[in-house]
Amino acid sequence: MISLRQVTKSFSNGDEKVIALNNVSLDIKENEFVAIMGTSGSGKSTLMNVLGCLDTPTQGDYLLNTQNISQLNDDTLSSIRNRYIGFIFQTFHLLPKLDVIDNITLPLRYTDISQSEIQTRADALIERVGLSHRKHHKPYEMSGGQRQRVAIARALINQPSVILADEPTGNLDSKTSEEIMKLLTELHQQGQTIVMVTHEAEIAQYAQRVIRMKDGQIIEDTQTCSAV
Ligand SMILES: Nc1ncnc2c1ncn2[C@@H]1O[C@H](COP(=O)(O)OP(=O)(O)OP(=O)(O)O)[C@@H](O)[C@H]1O
Ligand SMILES: [Mg+2]
Repeated sequence: MISLRQVTKSFSNGDEKVIALNNVSLDIKENEFVAIMGTSGSGKSTLMNVLGCLDTPTQGDYLLNTQNISQLNDDTLSSIRNRYIGFIFQTFHLLPKLDVIDNITLPLRYTDISQSEIQTRADALIERVGLSHRKHHKPYEMSGGQRQRVAIARALINQPSVILADEPTGNLDSKTSEEIMKLLTELHQQGQTIVMVTHEAEIAQYAQRVIRMKDGQIIEDTQTCSAV
């Protein structure tokens, strides 16, 4: 489903050139749950940005659902992103003025999906993440864990091929982190493909495969028995 072939991503800061991804090849199959680990600056977020079509490789190819997206323009890239990718961020990225329903349905606002279909999906997802009693709350009226549940529902609303989560529990206490990881695990068990960045071993344990990065390269790629 996801295939990176000898992908390099470099940035130039004035005279200095930073190689954030150095010749990375990686295949991720449908319904895998992958954790990406590595020290700060090792290229994890850059990798996620490429996977999420937020950025394109400097060299190499990225195939998503067999389509080569390495050289597409921004408009095509963003429509592929809206169609196939769901994002979850460390700091939730909810819109403060919108209530739960409006935050969740935002990614479908400018699509041709009917209002009734949007409503049906949103109701099912709000139920799914356990927020039926919070439909009309604003983000500031909710706890961190509840906000991340809203973000997870929003990530799922376009029925994405893959969920990309960059440090999804980075702003949560350990009990709330566990709840969020249990929810992601359930989604995975129901068939969702998930790629998650974390630097906590306890969080990585929920995944079935752990990829370790260093200096823009994959230095370890291990299948694990999921702890839960
Ligand atoms: N837009 C950019 N412009 C210039 N350099 C960048 C850019 N994005 C990333 N880099 C550089 O690329 C390297 C990899 O950065 P990246 O953000 O992918 O690391 P990371 O593994 O996500 O780190 P962290 O754990 O701190 O989030 C770093 O040296 C970083 O400074
Ligand atoms: Mg990062």
